[in-house]
Amino acid sequence: MKKLSLDKILQSQGFGTRKWCRQLIADGEVCVGGKVVESQDSAFVAEGLEFTVHGEPWICRAHVYIALNKPPGYECSRRPAHHPPVLTLLPEQFRWRDVQPVGRLDHDTTGLLLLSDDGAFIHAQSSPKRHVPKLYVATTHDPVTPELLRQLQEGVQLHDEPAPLTAQVRQIDSHRLEIILEQGKYHQVKRMLAAAGNHCDALCRIAIGGLRLDALELAEGTWCHIDPAQLATP
Ligand code: URA
Repeated sequence: MKKLSLDKILQSQGFGTRKWCRQLIADGEVCVGGKVVESQDSAFVAEGLEFTVHGEPWICRAHVYIALNKPPGYECSRRPAHHPPVLTLLPEQFRWRDVQPVGRLDHDTTGLLLLSDDGAFIHAQSSPKRHVPKLYVATTHDPVTPELLRQLQEGVQLHDEPAPLTAQVRQIDSHRLEIILEQGKYHQVKRMLAAAGNHCDALCRIAIGGLRLDALELAEGTWCHIDPAQLATP
């Protein structure tokens, strides 16, 4: 397998410019296999290479696929207006390598958010043709009624949509609903609940495809690497 010089590997992983990465190595801050690497030009097979920088372990990956348990009060936009960006919850290296959220959650929505630096993956996951089911738990302001369930299942008309939008719904208790959407229209859950005469007080995304937040055991605000294969629906 083709080898790459360590400075290029560090740069590809988001440790900074080539010059900065060469300096890190010259300063003795990079270890491979527990040994300080002496030369910036030492070459390694990149994929899967385990190394440390400033003592912090890292595994070289061509692309990263990340699941974040998003807390409230963070924006998914790159240029957030009122709240810090979700990217500030991730290591700085991911911002250097242009990791981006896959779709968006509102600033007050919590739960499972995917991020990646793989453009093809982001595009495929966000494509409306793909129909990836997304499971939310919505807390409603007013009690859940049979009429609310009926309207959501049969379709509610949002003012800028050509046709009524439907959702699969299941009542959890007096004020909570499980809602499965396959589209990702702007504020879709909140607007559907409002159009059906209720109001969404809180919203949490629980699953995307076959990937469930509870199985990842992530505390709010923390993240982990995932394998995109985990998203496949069983
Ligand atoms: N629907 C909403 O209304 N908000 C979200 O953040 C996600 C889905």
